[in-house]
Amino acid sequence: MEISADGIRLRPWKEEDAERLAVIANNKKIFDNLRDAFPHPYSLEDAKEFISSVQTDDGRSKVFAIEVGGEVVGSIGVSLKSDVYRKNAEIGYYLAEEQWGKGIMTKSIRALVRYLFANTDVIRIYAEPFARNIGSRRALEKAGFRLEAVLKSSVIKNNIIEDSCIYAVLKEEFEGGTMRT
Ligand SMILES: CC(C)(COP(=O)(O)OP(=O)(O)OC[C@H]1O[C@@H](n2cnc3c(N)ncnc32)[C@H](O)[C@@H]1OP(=O)(O)O)[C@@H](O)C(=O)NCCC(=O)NCCS
Repeated sequence: MEISADGIRLRPWKEEDAERLAVIANNKKIFDNLRDAFPHPYSLEDAKEFISSVQTDDGRSKVFAIEVGGEVVGSIGVSLKSDVYRKNAEIGYYLAEEQWGKGIMTKSIRALVRYLFANTDVIRIYAEPFARNIGSRRALEKAGFRLEAVLKSSVIKNNIIEDSCIYAVLKEEFEGGTMRT
């Protein structure tokens, strides 16, 4: 499954991407903004393991390589929630550092959200950036998300306790509610 919009392409990770992924992901500035499940340093072995883990489709989570001009520049994933949260989805993402600040993640988030609202029964999509992650917060806002909450002292990263945020967008409000069915 692929999503194309606005000069970016979201497509499944392939085994051939492992070397490029290891280069992009082996970056402390990326690690510092993600959960600890994301390895650091990030080796070629880590990249291969990750790619093989996302190739089995469990129907609940999906991770896409982000391509611009035929080159892999980042990753964006979605996890469909379960039980009473089953109409919710959480997204997570990162971009190669040399591509930051060009609007690529705003476009990627928007394209993924548009796809999910149009093709799944999800009605709420959210993300949980650390409070200090201004770039991610801004990209979410530009893609149509609202700040729902600041969770005080909710995370510990690099041994420092800090705040995180919840940003969300509802199907009925995304792009002026044009997705309403
Ligand atoms: C967060 C990240 C994905 C953003 O991707 P991106 O393609 O650079 O984002 P965009 O260019 O679409 O938007 C970023 C916005 O934040 C702004 N921004 C970035 N850093 C900023 C800072 N320190 N202070 C103020 N604004 C900042 C940019 O100027 C831009 O806003 P603008 O278009 O109004 O100028 C990228 O920086 C990244 O991969 N970071 C490390 C991993 C990460 O944080 N992942 C998300 C975890 S929740």
